[in-house]
Amino acid sequence: MNKRLLIINSGGDCPGMNAVIWAIVKRVKKEMNWEVIGSINGFDGLLSEPFNIEILDRKKVSGIHVKGGTILKTNNTRNPFSYPVLQKDGKIKNEDLSDKLILNLKILRVDAVIHIGGNESHKISVKLCEKGIDIIGIPKTINNDLSITDYAFGFQTAAQVATDAIDKLVTTATSHNRVLILEVMGRKAGWIALHAAIAGGADVCLIPEIPFSINKVIEKIKSRYVNGKGFANIIVAEGACPKGKICEVVPGLNARKLSAELKKHELSADIRETILGHLQRGGTPNAFDRILATELGVKAVELVLENTFGVMVAHQKQKLISVPFSQVIDKDNQINLNGNLIKTARGIGISFGD
Ligand code: F6P
Repeated sequence: MNKRLLIINSGGDCPGMNAVIWAIVKRVKKEMNWEVIGSINGFDGLLSEPFNIEILDRKKVSGIHVKGGTILKTNNTRNPFSYPVLQKDGKIKNEDLSDKLILNLKILRVDAVIHIGGNESHKISVKLCEKGIDIIGIPKTINNDLSITDYAFGFQTAAQVATDAIDKLVTTATSHNRVLILEVMGRKAGWIALHAAIAGGADVCLIPEIPFSINKVIEKIKSRYVNGKGFANIIVAEGACPKGKICEVVPGLNARKLSAELKKHELSADIRETILGHLQRGGTPNAFDRILATELGVKAVELVLENTFGVMVAHQKQKLISVPFSQVIDKDNQINLNGNLIKTARGIGISFGD
């Protein structure tokens, strides 16, 4: 009987997820006699009755590498260790279904698992590995907040979407002499904001790594009007936080909060906000993300061939490596405040509100 490889993706989707599925299936079918199956909608596919599983053959994945989203569907709310279960009284209670999951993997005759996910997903991978599952992680995130890999696919495409947005906002801000605020994603890391701010030439960039003062932001805006520029563009990351405050990351809140705060001050300019939201996660992956996804997918299959499990594949200093799960979790990749990008941004006059 053929061996079976299961692909599962969990967490939010991002550009490149289909490319990695495509690469895994192509690499397996090149020389291995394995069957590849995919769990639909993250862990749901393995925990539902009947199972929701797809056979992934060459035909099924043909051409998907250029498409956004994931053919397997995904979610960021179904952790098998704390899984929402409908109770008899109609209420939902979270239960640990990990033993059921492991039993189901045996019933499905799964020999190895490749799990595509971000920080939260790989915390699940670690626990499944501890329970004896032969599992390999592949990093994906638009946020670029996974510390072990220099790049995760999805980020470059998202940064381009944010840059395109700021480019468009600059033209209309100029026409109307407005202050335009653009909120971008990133959770506790400001990578998307910083890349778009430099590439698009924003005036202010507020990121979680640098707590900001509203007065400094106002100073910068006023200087733009005094100097005759007559408009200002601000990028605020969803995780940015004012000095001395503790903030939760609530997508969509920061642009509104900042706009309301600025409107309280004596600024003659009209202030408007845009929340870029899920546009950053959707659409076609760019060439960089497709290539990275393909590299990581092929590397993961090669680890299956070598019988190496309990690791995440990563890109470090131009090399593809594998890192034990123990080194992966609970480390956020935040922007180095003494690094080139911050220096470059400051060098062209971008204010971080500090
Ligand atoms: O992890 C990517 C991300 O896009 C975050 O930046 C954002 O906070 C979150 O996902 C939003 O996810 P959703 O709207 O799917 O719950």
